[in-house]
Amino acid sequence: MTKFTVNDRPVQYRMEPDTPLLWALRDASNLTGTKYGCGTGDCGACTVDIDGEAVRSCRISLAQCEGRFVTTIEALSTDRSNPVQQAWVAENLPQCGYCQSGMIMAASVLLRKNRAPSDEQIDAAITNICRCGTYPRIRAAIRRAARIMEGQERIAAAPPPGITPEDAARAVPALRGQ
Ligand code: FES
Ligand code: FES
Repeated sequence: MTKFTVNDRPVQYRMEPDTPLLWALRDASNLTGTKYGCGTGDCGACTVDIDGEAVRSCRISLAQCEGRFVTTIEALSTDRSNPVQQAWVAENLPQCGYCQSGMIMAASVLLRKNRAPSDEQIDAAITNICRCGTYPRIRAAIRRAARIMEGQERIAAAPPPGITPEDAARAVPALRGQ
């Protein structure tokens, strides 16, 4: 049994130690914001923050997470007040949206280390793939999030999407019991 921390809560997964973290997050913890794209470490849809680094959760086992601190997209903020989320909404960034959880997690790790990344530094740090080609808007949103973090720009958190957790659970049975 592996023990570590997910979104500030201690967890113990009764799963095989070589199970990829992605499946524990999605199937055991119901943290489905972290997406499965390729399973080979290439696309970055499954990116989470582990001890302050952007990590492909499809390529790290539960055993490798022992004692570490994992943060998923669900824990960035509950009210869209995280500057990266605010910038993403303000730039109207996603198209299909599938890659965006991983992009946001990679961007938040980058901005914690570098508040003024150049386009070259963004491209080097964000190796995630977007099949919809949102890369120019991702660079713009990262620059905007940096301005928000530095207090150079203010954006009110976008309102929630208008669905309560209870309604969401009725619409999506997998959410029941959260
Ligand atoms: S699903 Fe993990 S990198 Fe693509
Ligand atoms: S928004 Fe569609 S894959 Fe990135």
